[in-house]
Amino acid sequence: MRALLSRLERFRSVDRVGDPARAAAEAVLPNHGVRDALHGRWLGHPLHPAVVQFPLGAWLSATVLDLLPGTRREATTLLVAGTAAALPAAVTGTADFTTLSREQRRVAVVHALANTAALGLIASSIVARLRGRHATGRWLSLAGVGVAGGSAMLGGHLSFSQDAGANHSAAALPLVPEGWHDLGPAAAYPPGALEARMLGETPVLVHREDDRFSVLIGRCAHRSGPLVDGTQVEIDGDACVQCPWHGSVYRLRDGRAMRGPASSDQTILRTRIRNDRLEAARP
Ligand code: FES
Repeated sequence: MRALLSRLERFRSVDRVGDPARAAAEAVLPNHGVRDALHGRWLGHPLHPAVVQFPLGAWLSATVLDLLPGTRREATTLLVAGTAAALPAAVTGTADFTTLSREQRRVAVVHALANTAALGLIASSIVARLRGRHATGRWLSLAGVGVAGGSAMLGGHLSFSQDAGANHSAAALPLVPEGWHDLGPAAAYPPGALEARMLGETPVLVHREDDRFSVLIGRCAHRSGPLVDGTQVEIDGDACVQCPWHGSVYRLRDGRAMRGPASSDQTILRTRIRNDRLEAARP
């Protein structure tokens, strides 16, 4: 399975579908605000993995009910509810698709095709059940759940092996050694300054606003871009930093993601002033 998935990641022929599909997804969801909402920026967490639980859970529950006598109507109701819940899952997945790398898109294309096949099988099962062909309906939904389960595994591969949707700034946090670390004299940071520093092997970004300091991990939460090379911008009167790679914007005082494609907030460190020197530590 591992070898198969690695081959899929390198299978360039899928780009003939993946590249136009990405362009189509960007055309359908042209508004960055809408895309950010679908990524889950407002939630501070990727939305797609959360909403896919509803169709999968409903379809799986229906197949369990199929094993019990006198539950035909309940099983059909669950299949219909799960099919309706597949729409938000598909829309959030389409938004996430626009942010993926080529290798991730190859896996995502197969994931989307498998989901479409599963949806077709479940829809056919509902039709068969409504026509009174319950045995056929049961087999069709069982096949649909099987395909959906395989597809969910591809989704898991995207998240866990290919890091799609992961918070890369949180992943960098354990590299900061435990305890408080000296970041130099507080007076060396002029108000409004945005300075890059190193904490051990981890780049950090220091911002000073009046007498308040914030220290952010210097790798972007989206895909580990060099936030230390980011541009300072202002959104709604708040000082923010914009990642040079894909344009995610984070509020400097608390790391909040103000613009996607990042759906997670940027990880920040605790700060304190001791003997007129700025110190930072893991939260
Ligand atoms: S790495 Fe993608 S926005 Fe920073």
